[in-house]
Amino acid sequence: MASQFLFLAFIAITCSIALATDPSSLQDFCVADPVRSVPVNGLVCKDPRFVEANDFSFSGLHLAGNTSNTVGSHVTSVNVAQIAGLNTLGISIARIDYAPWGVNSPHTHPRASEVLTVLEGSLQVGFITSHPENRLITKILHVGDVFVFPVGLLHFQRNIGYGNAVAIAALSSQNPGVITIANAVFGSNPDISSDVLTRAFQVDKDTIYNFQSRF
Ligand SMILES: *[C@@H]1O[C@H](CO)[C@@H](O)[C@H](O)[C@H]1NC(C)=O
Repeated sequence: MASQFLFLAFIAITCSIALATDPSSLQDFCVADPVRSVPVNGLVCKDPRFVEANDFSFSGLHLAGNTSNTVGSHVTSVNVAQIAGLNTLGISIARIDYAPWGVNSPHTHPRASEVLTVLEGSLQVGFITSHPENRLITKILHVGDVFVFPVGLLHFQRNIGYGNAVAIAALSSQNPGVITIANAVFGSNPDISSDVLTRAFQVDKDTIYNFQSRF
């Protein structure tokens, strides 16, 4: 009996701390106050009396992003920085544009799972499992197809068509964060020591300097 109770208590504690999304809201809303900058986990609430419809709105997601860059893709993020009313709600959205053969480079969102919906074109998508092996789980998506990237896992998309592609991503955080692997590893400020990177990537220093010069 005692052991059963302990087991249930253990499950309850484990469940209560293993939140998969942002903590849930304790009021109708907590529109981020653009003026006050008290450092809290999230953003300070604006006085509800001064909250208005525009605090819950963003315009412009019908506009294509500029994909004239080295990777051939562009992410238009709509998170708590664009819609103050998303503060404490645990969700956000983004539009992703892809030039023909453009790539949304391998990256992770430290705080969000992602549901991607293809609106135009065809994409190869994939994510890498963490344990016990780095397995690539990949699929070809067409218009109307939906794919899930679990929180924290490394993932990417590639336009495999001759035309432009467009996708909408829904994310389970008001502020998902993004770590693009190439930029983070080879373009951090200050640089990671080449001694670390030559060992990690098993290449010589010139190769590392070459990568670092690109990011
Ligand atoms: C798109 O970005 C490129 C590279 O930064 C720039 O030269 C070009 O003017 C931009 N195009 C538009 C329509 O803004």
